[in-house]
Amino acid sequence: MIQVRKRLARYLAVFVAMTLAGSGIASAQDARAAQQVKLRQSAYTVLGAQMGLMGAMASGRAPYDANAFRAAAERAALMANYVPELFPAGSITPSSKAKAELWQQTAEFQRLMRDMQSKAATLATIAKGGDLEAIKPAFGATGASCKACHDKYKAD
Ligand code: HEC
Repeated sequence: MIQVRKRLARYLAVFVAMTLAGSGIASAQDARAAQQVKLRQSAYTVLGAQMGLMGAMASGRAPYDANAFRAAAERAALMANYVPELFPAGSITPSSKAKAELWQQTAEFQRLMRDMQSKAATLATIAKGGDLEAIKPAFGATGASCKACHDKYKAD
């Protein structure tokens, strides 16, 4: 699990470095903030993609494939444990949708992060059992934990 996470972090960092090369960003500080935002958004994109895959199966838009669902749930739980690290102070740029309040209301922000992590971990555990009817409410609870934070700390 740790290995996979390190590898994933490295891939994302390389991707971000490539994306930023030649973008003509002025100061080193701006460049750093832009890189931090890009990494964060990339990680959330990976997390969101897993939720999309699972959502299609949970809602019947795609056929339920227990192995594919389990893999997506495990990846989501992995990313849920990674994203809290991606909010260093000052990592805000015009392309970021993070609201500045999250750096002031850190206790509440962390609480919402932990809630997502626990819901995603429960979903991954239940997904191993392969029972779609048990999976559906756990998936719903995970999605609700994303929304709870977005409603407060993410701009539309
Ligand atoms: C504790 C807060 C919090 C939780 C929990 C959370 N998010 Fe987010 N999410 C954010 C913030 C803040 C941003 C804006 C990041 C930025 O643009 O800098 C964001 C951005 C995103 C984005 C947009 C990325 C982009 O490219 O702009 C996606 C997709 C996303 N989140 C998916 C999810 C999913 C799926 C979950 C639940 C499994 C989740 N988030 C849980 C705070 C949260």
